[in-house]
Amino acid sequence: MNIAVEIGDFRQIQTDAVIIPILEEDLHNDLLLAADSALEGRIQSLLNLGDFKGKHKSTAVLYTNGTINAPRVILIGLGKFSELDTEKVRQAAGQTAKYARDLGITSIAVPIPPEAQDEWIQGAVEASLLSLYEFKQHQTVDDDDNENKKLESLTLLVSSDSEKTTLERPVNRGQTIANGTTLARDLSNQPSNHLTPTQLAQKAEEVATSTGLKCTVFDKATLEEKGFRTLLAVSQGSAEEPRFIILEHTPEGDDKETVVLVGKGITFDTGGISLKSGSGMHEMKHDMSGAAAVLGAMQVIGILKPNLHVFGLIAASENMPSSTAIKPGDVVTSYGGKTIEILNTDAEGRLILADALGWTAQYEPKGVVDLATLTGAVISALGHIAAGALGTDDALMEKVKKAGDKTHERVWELPLWDDYDEGVKSTIADVRNIGDGTSGTIAGAAFLKKFAEGYPWVHLDIAGTAWGMKGSTYIPDSASGYGVRLLVQLVEDW
Ligand code: BES
Ligand code: MN
Ligand code: ZN
Repeated sequence: MNIAVEIGDFRQIQTDAVIIPILEEDLHNDLLLAADSALEGRIQSLLNLGDFKGKHKSTAVLYTNGTINAPRVILIGLGKFSELDTEKVRQAAGQTAKYARDLGITSIAVPIPPEAQDEWIQGAVEASLLSLYEFKQHQTVDDDDNENKKLESLTLLVSSDSEKTTLERPVNRGQTIANGTTLARDLSNQPSNHLTPTQLAQKAEEVATSTGLKCTVFDKATLEEKGFRTLLAVSQGSAEEPRFIILEHTPEGDDKETVVLVGKGITFDTGGISLKSGSGMHEMKHDMSGAAAVLGAMQVIGILKPNLHVFGLIAASENMPSSTAIKPGDVVTSYGGKTIEILNTDAEGRLILADALGWTAQYEPKGVVDLATLTGAVISALGHIAAGALGTDDALMEKVKKAGDKTHERVWELPLWDDYDEGVKSTIADVRNIGDGTSGTIAGAAFLKKFAEGYPWVHLDIAGTAWGMKGSTYIPDSASGYGVRLLVQLVEDW
């Protein structure tokens, strides 16, 4: 969908529908009164009848019968002003875009009041675009339901040049961030036979070329040479080679702090020899959602060029059972030299991250955030609402929480006290890759902690939020793109 800012009047503009956002307790504001008088009192009639009250996300459509140029006016409720925040705006915008799409119309225009905040505009742009998301690459015929239903343009109407200029920044950022989130969703939704580690690395190179990021990819031979033995161990059961992807954004000036984003990129997780059960296994095509979020965020970072040195690292592999696969009981040596007893080959995410986190130390980062669909246990703890956050640094944890609050990508901290270290002790190696069967999400993080040494670190377990989220107008229940907006916010607010 194309988004434009134009100077104009809602009475004159040629569009399929004019959108009027309405606050629940503010039914007498200038815009509403102007719209009502242009429509010869139709809005007032609707309000008097009690058919529309401005409740959050409520909608009503009015037919203008030639009183203004647009044939329709769509009212969208924003709820109470005292409760209005950026997320309420996003939800309302997502609701409106879908409503318009389902009417089958192609263009909408929204008069923007001068008091609208930048975050609301950015949020509305993001949510309008993201609410219309569909993954249809593999359908050769469009299903009837959505045939000819393409909302093509959204016009933000303002009344002056200066208002237009003010809107440009949040509109552009909203579009860029929505595109990054869409990229992450597309990658996550992509079946594993269409997105192997090699193809994921190619995608990263494309993103780098188009945005000006630097991209380095380690193939199997390079990984062997450099000693990424744990990543190699996970991939050894697969015909597909692993890849390690390094994306880098270098700002102007060489005195900038370094932040590293790390993503789990298991393009399919069968569990390996510790095979998963069949039901729902297809969902494990999403097991690279952490990598997708990092790549999506790096695309945005490449375009917005924040004043911070940012690395995006992705460890990519399949996890397959075969005669060459790792077996329970095997011991492997990680990048940093620590040995790992693999007691369950289905705890593979933490294995590939062990190498990635070990590699990270050389950048001497001021903050490292990894995103991984690491444990089913985080879904039992937090549902499909919040990511589990665990880390070694309170200040970094605060930053991550703040970013998640702003973008409404919920994070909830779980403890990572030393008391949990006992659970991942091995009798024959330095560490083992599973805990004692309790507090699975914390056990996963306690394992990772052994490899995230020498820098502030936060781990986000996104197994519950990467897909299967419900109740949002702009997040589908397939891949959510969770983490892209949060990571961008974190980097920008650094
Ligand atoms: N990718 C899975 C975690 C997962 C499960 C994500 C369900 C989303 C939905 C991960 O590799 C895994 O298999 N974890 C195991 C760890 C266990 C063997 C210690 C799990 O959660 O069961
Ligand atoms: Mn697994
Ligand atoms: Zn996995």
